[in-house]
Amino acid sequence: MSWARELVSSKSGRRLSLREQPPTTGDEVPWLVAYDLDPSKGPILKSRLAARAWSLWRYEELLPLENFADRIDLGEGGTPLVRVRNVPYGMEVWLKEEAGNPTGSFKDRGLSLAVNRARELGAPGVQLPSAGNAALATAAYAAAGGLRCRVALPGDTPGVIVDRCRSYGAEVLCGGATLVDSASELAAFEDGFWDLSTFREPYRVEGKKTMGLELVEQFDWSPPDWIFYPTGGGTGIVAMYKAFQELQELGLLDESLPRLVSVQMEGCAPLVRAFHSGAEQAETWQEPKTGVWGLRVPRSLADSLILEALRRSNGTAVSVPEDGLGEIQARYAKQEGRWLGPEGAAAVAGFEKLRAEGLVQSDERVLIFQTGHPANYFG
Ligand SMILES: Cc1ncc(COP(=O)(O)O)c(C=O)c1O
Repeated sequence: MSWARELVSSKSGRRLSLREQPPTTGDEVPWLVAYDLDPSKGPILKSRLAARAWSLWRYEELLPLENFADRIDLGEGGTPLVRVRNVPYGMEVWLKEEAGNPTGSFKDRGLSLAVNRARELGAPGVQLPSAGNAALATAAYAAAGGLRCRVALPGDTPGVIVDRCRSYGAEVLCGGATLVDSASELAAFEDGFWDLSTFREPYRVEGKKTMGLELVEQFDWSPPDWIFYPTGGGTGIVAMYKAFQELQELGLLDESLPRLVSVQMEGCAPLVRAFHSGAEQAETWQEPKTGVWGLRVPRSLADSLILEALRRSNGTAVSVPEDGLGEIQARYAKQEGRWLGPEGAAAVAGFEKLRAEGLVQSDERVLIFQTGHPANYFG
């Protein structure tokens, strides 16, 4: 049974009951789920985990669903940690390999929760703008849950994604030049489909939180020193930081958090720019230019939450050049037997940059998120 208590606006602190649908626009977005947690519950959770299957759903106390038995479950989460073999000085570097999720990326975690919750609360359908992977995940979970689904993709999205969304039964719009245009296309519909856009509803963060919960368990409750995360909208950063805070409230994690690093592309790095200028919010990046689709996000609704997570975890933000990624993908394929998605390759590039600058030390443990399967883009 879930320990979720209520919804809280991260901006105003206003509270809503869990069954209410929070506004998707306005000054109070993003809304987050709050839980009843205290140190006495930590050992209870830990002993229950020992008997549970290795899946996203093992964390039901920390997930906001009412009826877990009736959930749509395509096998999301429970992804492996894979040691990187060819690193200088025998450093301990791991990949969190998310490509094995049901539609090939970590987006399944958040959208599983969001679609499950929409279904549980009686939504007539769901919709969102997406760079690609989130649309695949939404379409697949909506199909399995018998919900109608509409996705809007920028016009240059690879055709393989468009076809696959349609094969899941989704209505696909692809007229816009950017994600912002895609969002406007959806705003014109008035049929009450729930908007599952990044940070406009509270449940995607909850699903992605399981990345943080899993990795802490996989590191035997002593998480790595650094986490490199390819950041677009930044749900994963906010979600992992939330996971660590909840584990701290449960007394399962001490004060020293992993240092979170947002990796963005040089051609679209609004959070990197804001982080290093000391700003509390990130200005929109004009004319984003990157072929790494998942990271072509000029602005995040949760910019202040992301920047706070990076700073409070003593982390940082780094941008990497486009032209280094091909070499990293080729090297990882040849030396590690691993096929990285462009976003995962960007995260590796971020690690290698901070390692070369001497910020990451050779005796520190590093985790890099390999967030999606490259075949999602090429078929
Ligand atoms: C494979 C992949 N990695 C990373 C990201 C960025 O994720 P987030 O929105 O959590 O920053 C995306 C977003 O589309 C993606 O598809």
